[in-house]
Amino acid sequence: MALVEVRGLRKTFGPVVAVADVSFEIKEGHCTALLGPNGAGKSTILNILAGLLPATAGTVRFEGLAEGADHRSLIGYLPQQVALFGWMTGLEYVRMAGELTGLDRPAADLRARELIGLLGLEAAQNRRIGGYSGGMKQRIGLCQALVNRPRLVILDEPVSGLDPVGRRELLDLLKQLKSESTILFSTHVLPDAEELSDDILIVRAGAIVIDSSLTALRARYERPIVELELDDEATAGSWLETLASRGVKGEHRGAVIRWKFETSAAMRAGAADVYASAASRPEGVRRIELGQTSLEDMFLEAVRQ
Ligand SMILES: Nc1ncnc2c1ncn2[C@@H]1O[C@H](COP(=O)(O)OP(=O)(O)O)[C@@H](O)[C@H]1O
Ligand SMILES: [Mg+2]
Repeated sequence: MALVEVRGLRKTFGPVVAVADVSFEIKEGHCTALLGPNGAGKSTILNILAGLLPATAGTVRFEGLAEGADHRSLIGYLPQQVALFGWMTGLEYVRMAGELTGLDRPAADLRARELIGLLGLEAAQNRRIGGYSGGMKQRIGLCQALVNRPRLVILDEPVSGLDPVGRRELLDLLKQLKSESTILFSTHVLPDAEELSDDILIVRAGAIVIDSSLTALRARYERPIVELELDDEATAGSWLETLASRGVKGEHRGAVIRWKFETSAAMRAGAADVYASAASRPEGVRRIELGQTSLEDMFLEAVRQ
């Protein structure tokens, strides 16, 4: 059995259907990304899993626990908006979080220092949280989420709202963390999901539209492409027509033309045509490139409408 099984989850707020009918599993030891645009229902799903919000219908079942049993002690949760007490020091805050999960003072102190070391906050542990950077606050929040050695760590948009440096640091930390934990995190940014996760759930308007391993998604959606960038958009049109007349059909966005192929063999044949055309009229050509469509195309398609 998976670590968590979610079946038929539904949540309405009055007339608003935030989560329609969602079922998925979380595999132990995997890092799962819950990906979707703003308002898709990510936070609602995570809040229900974290036990902070009752579902309108459906079940969440943890391995080894009866259906509907209280699983909150198995979970660590970092909300989208972390409420930290600015007047406390980092160490005081994490120690308090430990005591709230039932540790006695010495055990909470030990665990707090261990996590603060792990997340590289020793130098700031006796300073007030109010003076921390965004990235440091997220790391203190993460200490809080890990304090009870949870079997599932739930993180709601952990890197959004951080500057590029803070984001990079936290992503690297999460990469380390995922080797020893089961993580479920939400994001609206595909590259973050690609970088961290084994499994991807894409949610749109309260429903899951894609549930797949990252490897399977890649295999399914990546296609060889040829891209040609020209000086201006006007020339792109005539390039498209010339090549289409030879059976190589592409599309353009601004001054960049893209030809997408089903197989590498088809791509090589198409590329030969594009390169030959470019060699015969090189003026206005800025770049020709062979590559792969990215998951970004798939993601945009999946969340459009
Ligand atoms: N407490 C609430 N009351 C009313 N509507 C809510 C509440 N929480 C969320 N919603 C609505 O539910 C939908 C999903 O919200 P949310 O789960 O926060 O999406 P996401 O985290 O993907 O941005 C949105 O339309 C949002 O406005
Ligand atoms: Mg949210």
